[in-house]
Amino acid sequence: DKGLYPFYMLKEVEEQPNVIRTILEHYMDAQQHVALDNEIKDALQKAQRIYIVAAGTSYHASLIGKRMFEGLVNKPTQVEISSEFAYDNFIPEDNPFFVFLSQSGETADSREVLQMVKERGFKSLTLTNVPNSTLAREATYALPLLAGPEIAVASTKAYTAQISVLAILAQAMANDSFNVAHPLASIAIAMEAILQNKEKYQELAEEYLVNAKHAFYIGRINDAELALEAALKLKEISYVHTEGFAAGELKHGTLALIEEKTPVIALLTQSATADLTRSNLAETAARGAHTMIITTKENAKEGDQVILPSVDAQDDDPQVVQQLAILLATVPVQLLSYYTSLGRGLDVDRPRNLAKSVTVQ
Ligand code: F6R
Repeated sequence: DKGLYPFYMLKEVEEQPNVIRTILEHYMDAQQHVALDNEIKDALQKAQRIYIVAAGTSYHASLIGKRMFEGLVNKPTQVEISSEFAYDNFIPEDNPFFVFLSQSGETADSREVLQMVKERGFKSLTLTNVPNSTLAREATYALPLLAGPEIAVASTKAYTAQISVLAILAQAMANDSFNVAHPLASIAIAMEAILQNKEKYQELAEEYLVNAKHAFYIGRINDAELALEAALKLKEISYVHTEGFAAGELKHGTLALIEEKTPVIALLTQSATADLTRSNLAETAARGAHTMIITTKENAKEGDQVILPSVDAQDDDPQVVQQLAILLATVPVQLLSYYTSLGRGLDVDRPRNLAKSVTVQ
């Protein structure tokens, strides 16, 4: 029931802080160590390479998972779009392990890959929001995402849940040598501050996006992955044609599309690359783009449109904090797409041509 909310999407966006808390309660013990089935932990640790297989928004969450597994745990990780991987050349190493990431657990493209994985005798883990779903039943292991039912076609809280659970798996793989619980809990609090100030995103959506034909999201490293998700979120419910990509790629082609007033939104949560992306954005501004910056306190400059609330993380591992920083920027990009869809008078929860669960290949 969406209660007083006009659309499920807004309700689900607002549930995200509590989704993070539910996940932490479920997966962490009193010492903030990960309570994980030993067989699953073993399979993850012993794998020579982890393959994360997913589609759509879940694919975008997987890309962050790869950053965390490689950046925090040194675990070689490959992300595969399920509809491609099912028909790709696959040259496995000695001991691969497959993680299927799926909100619904029913995505046909991912099920096709799981069949192939099983036929070859490899082990698998499904992370899903629907514990009795097909992908959960058919994989060797399954773990819940605990986001609660997601009704809106546009996936929001499942994305946050997926990244949170992948962060927890990273901690487990590292035998709890770093802690994601405290930074995640701090992010949940900071998300609430963003949600208390939703009108800001309605204003920005109206100023930048409601009347736009095209829009671009840019960023580097984790911000580039979030740019993909931000663009998908905007295009699928507002029908504004949107691309998200690595900021450094602009000058290799897409810059040609920038016209007077084209919205270009830069995501600057990653300190190592924030200045580079900022200069890429300036190149679009010089060609007339209507530029917006979404950034953290540390990377902010005067005049930036969105400065995310600070996260209490003094005692946390800075690398973990950097990896997870995109979770905070996720809420603004979700709200921008929500209010753009609303401003265009569309049915936010039920965009044309799309289904919540994609059971055909
Ligand atoms: C976009 C969206 C889709 C799904 C994709 C995979 O908002 O919801 O892109 O993420 O269809 O679905 P699951 O995660 O159920 O496998």
